[in-house]
Amino acid sequence: MKEVPASGAFRQLEPGPIVLVTTSYEGTPNVMTMGFHMMIQHAPPLIGCVIGPWDHSYRALRGTGECVIAIPTIDLTRAVVDIGNCSGDTVDKFKRFGLTPQPARSVAAPLIGECLANIECRVVDTVEAYSLFILQAERLWIDSDRKERRTLHHRGDGHFAADGDVLDLSEHMVKWRHLPR
Ligand SMILES: Cc1cc2nc3c(=O)[nH]c(=O)nc-3n(C[C@H](O)[C@H](O)[C@H](O)COP(=O)(O)O)c2cc1C
Repeated sequence: MKEVPASGAFRQLEPGPIVLVTTSYEGTPNVMTMGFHMMIQHAPPLIGCVIGPWDHSYRALRGTGECVIAIPTIDLTRAVVDIGNCSGDTVDKFKRFGLTPQPARSVAAPLIGECLANIECRVVDTVEAYSLFILQAERLWIDSDRKERRTLHHRGDGHFAADGDVLDLSEHMVKWRHLPR
């Protein structure tokens, strides 16, 4: 994993991939699957996430204020679904799904070695009525050597689209030249 500026987090999340969220609560690492997220601001990079109060991850995030958003690729599809169908209350998911926790730099939650990108995040605000966490991306790590780079996009009920063709219209983005590249 190579660190790149956290200002590039939007490039990873704006396309709306399914992500994994890691936490570390009372010394125990955990991971969940999350589809309900969105970029809110470029700088500093802010991300909105809805995490249900019934999840172990909700309690961990409330308790620690820290997490990592990890971006899996299509080789991890089966694990992504199964991680989202069991709880850290009863399962050591890193062990069960053969994931490699790697130390993050700014937060106690681990990076996931098998993922394309990892974003270290800190909670900066919450909206309790919607179980909405506003996270600030503090560090961004990317595995540039990874061969499989296609992300997963959840269409609901376990149906996914794999990331596909790229259409480059960057020459037309004349109003947005000041944004991070
Ligand atoms: C494809 C998929 C997307 C999901 N998206 C979310 C989500 O956005 N927010 C959420 O709270 N739970 C979501 N879940 C459910 C959690 O991942 C699930 O409740 C998980 O068991 C929580 O794990 P934990 O108790 O270890 O935190 C999703 C599950 C799947 C399979």
